[in-house]
Amino acid sequence: MSQNIALNPDIASIPRGARLTIINATRGKRDLADLASGNPNMPMPPFIRDRIKADLDVGYARYTDFFGVAALRERIADYLKGECGISADPETEVLVTHGVQEALYVVLRTLLRPGDEVLIPSPHYGNYYIDSVACGAKPVLVPLREEDGFQPDLERLEAAISPQTRALIFSNPNNPLGVLWPGEVLEKIAGLAQAHNLIVLVDEVYHDYYSASRPVSIAALPGMKGRTFTFNGFSKAYVMMGLRIGYVAGPAEVMGLVKQLHYAVALCPSSVGQVAALASFDCPREQVNGIYREYQSLIETLYEGVVALPGVSCVRPPAGFYLFPNFKRLGVGSLELSLQLIKDAGVVTLPGTEFGPAGEGHLRLSVAAGREDVEKGVAMLTRFFQEKA
Ligand SMILES: Cc1ncc(COP(=O)(O)O)c(C=O)c1O
Repeated sequence: MSQNIALNPDIASIPRGARLTIINATRGKRDLADLASGNPNMPMPPFIRDRIKADLDVGYARYTDFFGVAALRERIADYLKGECGISADPETEVLVTHGVQEALYVVLRTLLRPGDEVLIPSPHYGNYYIDSVACGAKPVLVPLREEDGFQPDLERLEAAISPQTRALIFSNPNNPLGVLWPGEVLEKIAGLAQAHNLIVLVDEVYHDYYSASRPVSIAALPGMKGRTFTFNGFSKAYVMMGLRIGYVAGPAEVMGLVKQLHYAVALCPSSVGQVAALASFDCPREQVNGIYREYQSLIETLYEGVVALPGVSCVRPPAGFYLFPNFKRLGVGSLELSLQLIKDAGVVTLPGTEFGPAGEGHLRLSVAAGREDVEKGVAMLTRFFQEKA
């Protein structure tokens, strides 16, 4: 007999989304083109694999320093300084976590009090919403518009600020939109954050895919270090998603408590994952540049294929994995279109509504599954649209 078990209402109200519906719709179907996955289909660079093998041969897999091994925190601090212009003390301001995912949760959980509001420019990465809800806070979605190239409208953002607003969270470069907010936009956001005393959480997990126009880090702008948490990791940059190593850098007075919570949640990051993360800093660049170049070429192939479809518009992303095309002229809702594409075109996509209601009429397309899926997907979408015309 089931017990009447009381649940934490915050956790019970986490939205489930439609991913399961999409996965179920693909069951038993063969030869689908995967334009949905955010899980890059590339092997790790050989240099990193060799370091992992050598470490495994030593045979130990002990708990490490709870906050990440000192050598790794130092390399991360050097990277933040050299690549992003952020000064972070590796001892007090850098925490190594079980992926960016854990870092987001422990920081939000440390900062947010029940009823606090979190501004999320949207469409957005779904976990910002989920984590805010799980922490008893209220996510406030601020729509980004395609006609603005998905750049934020500062007036709209400011209009969404209330006395309860504590924080603003976004990814830059952006998942699901594929766009990059440039330095001048970040300067305006920094001004807004300072004027309204907001904490800024910025997720830079796609930073390394945008080397042509190096992303600016908002934490490096004047007056921002003390109110900014910068998240990054090794999942995408070194295709080691499953090894689960991320990190966060933020002001020491808060990081002390964040570390305490991380200790309660994860104890320490994976030892083998940290070996790989440390190796990544010494990895010959030619072993990773080829990966970035391949994804750059794939995003262009997908973009060209998508904008050639009748009635479809799309903001051109400078690099990365994602496109967020607009299919509104078809007059079909995002989820319905996504299901129809699985059934009738053999293409798997994610409905734009998975990333907030502002994604209605859009699909999120990804090149992460690799060349075969992208080329097949473009051909299948083209045929589907020709048959519809
Ligand atoms: C914007 C964004 N942040 C964080 C993550 C997760 O990163 P990690 O693997 O380091 O937990 C993803 C994964 O797709 C992502 O797209």
